[in-house]
Amino acid sequence: MKKRIKLGLIGFGTVGSGVVDLIRKNNLVIEKRLGASLEIKTIADKDLIRPRNVSTAEATITDSVSDILNDPEISIVIELVGGLLPAKNFIIDAMEKKKHVVTANKALLATYGNEIFEKADEEKVNIGFEASVGGAIPVIKTIKESLAANNIVSVFGIMNGTCNYILTRMTDENLPFEEVLKEAQRLGFAEADPTYDIDGIDTAHKLAITLALSYGKRVRLEDIYREGISNLDRQDVEFASQLGYRIKLLAIAIQRGEEIEARIHPTMIPFNHLLSSVNGNYNAFHFEGDHSGSVLLHGQGAGMKPTASAVVSDIIDIARDMEKKVWRRVPLRAFKKDQIQDIKLLSMDDVRTNYYFRFSAFDRPGVLSKISGILGSHSISIASVIQKGRKDEGAVPVVMTTHESRERDVREALEEIDKLDIVLDKTVLIRIEGGQVQ
Ligand code: HSE
Repeated sequence: MKKRIKLGLIGFGTVGSGVVDLIRKNNLVIEKRLGASLEIKTIADKDLIRPRNVSTAEATITDSVSDILNDPEISIVIELVGGLLPAKNFIIDAMEKKKHVVTANKALLATYGNEIFEKADEEKVNIGFEASVGGAIPVIKTIKESLAANNIVSVFGIMNGTCNYILTRMTDENLPFEEVLKEAQRLGFAEADPTYDIDGIDTAHKLAITLALSYGKRVRLEDIYREGISNLDRQDVEFASQLGYRIKLLAIAIQRGEEIEARIHPTMIPFNHLLSSVNGNYNAFHFEGDHSGSVLLHGQGAGMKPTASAVVSDIIDIARDMEKKVWRRVPLRAFKKDQIQDIKLLSMDDVRTNYYFRFSAFDRPGVLSKISGILGSHSISIASVIQKGRKDEGAVPVVMTTHESRERDVREALEEIDKLDIVLDKTVLIRIEGGQVQ
């Protein structure tokens, strides 16, 4: 008799509908690869009324999650509810019933990952979470399997499509942040509450998971330095272009001896940098392995079909392990459980990189020398200066880029500079990555 893997789906929203649709459309090819077909036996959602425009075939639809959790025929539970609670309880309960789990829930894993992974170990079940980072892009599998032979030197990622869409339009069409955000919301690219995206929280969730797997560490979300894009002024986008850079919200992880540097902030990268051409709502992850060298993954990090692609590939992986009667071939966190350590993050003060500053200063004799004098006294070496447009009154922008400098020196120098009576506004600072500043 034809073999069937029975699935329970909790959460019948956009991604849930994508999973139902994908399995219906691609079950034949999946069966050829897996040797069994996938059957969504039960779907649970609070809202049984809303039309989903996908055929649910023979699935039972219920508003009771326990119809899935208490069904011994269901071996894999797909959690697509999102958020922390009750999603966490659904996953823990499913594991206690010895069911494997697949989830796309980055917030949950970034917050309670350790507890959930330990539960999975204790119950000897598997949990797939490829969809939690980078949608269709095979980030998790790449770290856990394809790069398993490497020390991962660094990860640079554009991990949020909404921010990348906004930054692309600000750059290409010279539009202000608020206008692009409003349009993105109108078109449905950005959430009604875009805070998670534009403040870099969604990126932090993805970086936390990426870091944990790349280095075998327990990461606390709040330890990751984070700046979003909402304060970005289009003048800086324009100056960046004049200097040969594009601004991206980058998530950065770099191995520094025993410590790891982890930060998220708007970043200038040169036009010829690989990540510079990742535009619109696309995501990309750039890994540097000590033997693999540079590896770039690019694709769609969100949306119904791309996310469903990752969810169903996890289901297939787990089903293959079930078929071989192993509960899990690859460790959940890429490292053996007893090797996972707490992370030691490099203090942001000790980060060294290149900087862009925009001072708002009066155009008077001696201004540049005062500013550069303070920078020099903090060991900050200037790489280039732009000053345009003399105004009769008020401030003019004075733009400088620096050679590699230490964050603590930069912070102290800017504090001093911002107190000068020739400086009108708080100085804008944007970090520069991807090559020595000329
Ligand atoms: N809102 C995210 C983005 C997708 O814009 O990339 C889900 O993580």
